[in-house]
Amino acid sequence: MRNNGISIQTQALNKTFGPVHAVRDLDLEVASGGRFGFLRPNRAGKTTTVRILSGLMKPTSGSASVLGMDILTHAGEIKSLTGLLPETPGLYSKLSAVEFLDFIGALNGLEGPVLDRRIDSLLSMLGLEGRQDDLLDSYSSGMKQKVLVASTLLHEPRLVFLDEPTSRLDPSAGALVKDLILVLAEETETTFFICTHQTSFAEDVCDIVGIINDGSLVIVDSPNGIVESTSAKDLEEAYLKIVGGQVDRDSLLAWR
Ligand SMILES: Nc1ncnc2c1ncn2[C@@H]1O[C@H](COP(=O)(O)OP(=O)(O)OP(=O)(O)O)[C@@H](O)[C@H]1O
Ligand SMILES: [Mg+2]
Repeated sequence: MRNNGISIQTQALNKTFGPVHAVRDLDLEVASGGRFGFLRPNRAGKTTTVRILSGLMKPTSGSASVLGMDILTHAGEIKSLTGLLPETPGLYSKLSAVEFLDFIGALNGLEGPVLDRRIDSLLSMLGLEGRQDDLLDSYSSGMKQKVLVASTLLHEPRLVFLDEPTSRLDPSAGALVKDLILVLAEETETTFFICTHQTSFAEDVCDIVGIINDGSLVIVDSPNGIVESTSAKDLEEAYLKIVGGQVDRDSLLAWR
């Protein structure tokens, strides 16, 4: 399983849904151990790319390898070595956090003291200790999201796809998730592939950012590199300069 320091590599990857060209000729490389941020508008093709790379969906054309394995021939192995936090994950709300994580751990072949230790340490990193035996029904949406992030990391995947990990979190819960990613990135070799709309999140967490718009990759660079090359004050301004973010007044008036 050689991957030459590259965790994800795509070549001319395309996905169409009828007339919709969701991913266009995507050529991408994500370094092992890196934190890649995929920005940003709605319907850009981020989730579709993640679904293809995590083996949930086949591309229409092109090729990709994940952890040195072809996505078409090694989808099962890729699934077992990666973690995925989907955009709209499901949660068994009649279980407690510990019961839910026990269940997810068992699905990933974990058990006994190893599983117990990982659950305890993730729950405490995410500030959920003390609530671990309460039903998930009684959790706020932010707390539920934290449990879902923990469930994604439980089997210590080498590569984690996080699709909008903080979009439903308040700033302090979002900061905890940011810290968790940074701590894991520092202490382990985990590679993160993170879809986000939040430029501040990408600036704080990601070492490389790829901006995708209408299925096409527009720019890939470090957050600083993107800011400097556009003479912007921050990534948000750089993004607006690159992709544009002006509200189209005519279409708003037409909608009324
Ligand atoms: N299963 C599907 N069937 C038909 N069209 C789809 C399907 N999945 C995605 N699309 C379309 O592909 C395009 C890209 O969608 P995708 O969900 O990948 O975008 P995204 O960047 O994740 O957007 P968001 O920021 O809203 O999550 C959209 O036009 C979407 O409607
Ligand atoms: Mg999406």
